[in-house]
Amino acid sequence: METGFEKAAAHLRRSRIGGRLISLESVSSTNDVAWEEAEKGAPEGTVVVAEEQTAGRGRMSRRWHSPPGLGVWMSVVLRPEIGPETAPGLTLCASVAVAKAVRSLHPVTVSLKWPNDVTVEGRKLCGILTEMKASRGKVDFVVCGVGMNVNQAREDFPAEIREKATSLMIATGKTADRAKLLVVTLEHFEKQYSMFCREGIASCLGEWRSMCPFFGKRVRVKGRREAVEGMFFNVDDNGAIVLRLDCGVHRSFLAGDVEFVL
Ligand code: BTN
Repeated sequence: METGFEKAAAHLRRSRIGGRLISLESVSSTNDVAWEEAEKGAPEGTVVVAEEQTAGRGRMSRRWHSPPGLGVWMSVVLRPEIGPETAPGLTLCASVAVAKAVRSLHPVTVSLKWPNDVTVEGRKLCGILTEMKASRGKVDFVVCGVGMNVNQAREDFPAEIREKATSLMIATGKTADRAKLLVVTLEHFEKQYSMFCREGIASCLGEWRSMCPFFGKRVRVKGRREAVEGMFFNVDDNGAIVLRLDCGVHRSFLAGDVEFVL
């Protein structure tokens, strides 16, 4: 069956990222489908996009609400020649690409929040879930999943995230073209990813920092077991957040949620 994303395929035919576009109506999770494709040998740049996800996943085992026809739920298969420790940096690379694409198409001010959120007016517009398979100290493949809230009205979000989430339609008051957003995001992603492959995380860190209002501020990093406060000092070569604690020690975290400390 034709999905709203079919017209994107023609625009991306010659692209490194998206040249092979698998467009599906309903899937459990595009990350799962992309993972299966990667296991079967899918080439780098294969993209899986779906109208709906019935078991969309977020970081830290969270559910990602993915109703039919209202968002861009997509996953990209990557085969970078990097060590597994540097793969989390691809999340930052992808978030810069999403931010640039959204900014280029819509009159909104986009911010980034470590590690994987793209926000508008402090509410989450997009999340990124990077998963990888590695062996013998090298990455076999990475699946970079991107979920963009596009045409949801406030009541389309479940009550528990209604105050935290936003969509492009809520932010601009207009419905947005999801296929166009997909194409432009993948075009930016292709550029950012090429630079990442050459230069590593340094290729995106300057732009990432410039869009991150938390940088240099007092924050709390909440992990599964502890919450630690300090000054948001840096993001290291592996994409970990580095806090300067009150005792002067620098401590890095690879996972967690960041919030301002007032
Ligand atoms: C997060 O913010 O915690 C990450 C959310 C990632 C959601 C996207 S939607 C497409 C892809 N498929 C999934 O199951 N998750 C990612």
